[in-house]
Amino acid sequence: MSLPNFFIKIPYSLVGPGSISKLPELIKEMDGTRVLIVTDNGVKEAGLLHTLIESIKNSGCHYSTYDECMPNTPSGNIDQCAKKAIEEQTDLLIGIGGGSVIDTTKIVSLLAANSLEMSDIIGAPTMPSKALAKIIIPTTSGTGSEWSRLALYTDEADGRKKMFRGMKVFADAVIIDPELTLGMPQRVTADTGIDALTHAIEAYTSSTAHTVGDSFSETAIQMVSCNLLRVYNNGKDLEARYNMSIAASLAMEAMTVEGGGLAHMIDASIIAKAHISHGAALAIILPHVMEYDIPANVDRYARLATLMGAKMSGLSLDEAAALSVQTFKKLCSDLGMKHKLSQVGIKSDDIPAMVENVLKFGGARLAPHKAEDITSILKAAL
Ligand SMILES: [Fe+2]
Repeated sequence: MSLPNFFIKIPYSLVGPGSISKLPELIKEMDGTRVLIVTDNGVKEAGLLHTLIESIKNSGCHYSTYDECMPNTPSGNIDQCAKKAIEEQTDLLIGIGGGSVIDTTKIVSLLAANSLEMSDIIGAPTMPSKALAKIIIPTTSGTGSEWSRLALYTDEADGRKKMFRGMKVFADAVIIDPELTLGMPQRVTADTGIDALTHAIEAYTSSTAHTVGDSFSETAIQMVSCNLLRVYNNGKDLEARYNMSIAASLAMEAMTVEGGGLAHMIDASIIAKAHISHGAALAIILPHVMEYDIPANVDRYARLATLMGAKMSGLSLDEAAALSVQTFKKLCSDLGMKHKLSQVGIKSDDIPAMVENVLKFGGARLAPHKAEDITSILKAAL
């Protein structure tokens, strides 16, 4: 009998169209008097910052804005934002944006509450003892960072992607308002949607999957499979945006509860080489990770194909499992995504260095996968 140990925490979340209007009440409930809004230029240009500020004005609190968050969350950029939070004597952070903005906000909450800089906490044996309160408002449907205990960043000292994790990293409150995602560009919609689907698939097929985690991953897989193409073809489809917003958060919860997979360990070396988005790299590599993984987990992959909406009648278990890969590839193709490493400029000569990178940064999490496994997956993806 399997009796898995796991932890679960879902931040307090206001979900639904127009839920951003509840922000003033939330600020009051959280005793926010000096708010720093953390965001990026994309959110500002999309007009979402204006919407947010109009809402905050009703709360009567003092507010200021840091709108210079950068993609991939560079450490120096986080320091800049933390400096502003400390100077402004901020007592509540509001992060509105995609994954990089959310991760910046989470890390700034640790730095500002303890008057620290990134160099004080990178590689430190323990996490800072306090964190500023933070409200997270995602404007994409993909990373699921709003519900995760992780915050990713790029350490500019060595160029590596790293992360902080722990209880203090969790958002104190989340607003998931699908109306904020209506203007998301088509390419970002596809890339972030595939990221969410990959979280759910990697959680569902992980060796540590269990019934509770499955309740999140199965729902997320079904919701993304039914709605991603809909929002790709019509970004103004509020019902499909609503479903994608919820699916992205559920997919991250699945990954938090059940664990991740190999595609998320390999994709960083693809991104470093090809300079493509996280979702675009996953679209290329996940089918090959799935093919590699199927022999050890045929039942799960057959069920996965069903969850993704594939027609299964008359198929053997092996055929059904293989159909999960074809179904994922078909979705990516319908979303106009590339499916080979060679299409993004990666050559076979690049593979040894990429494998080395994966092994170097994957650490213990990679076990039991070896260099030859990663090599064969990357070669198959060429
Ligand atoms: Fe991801």
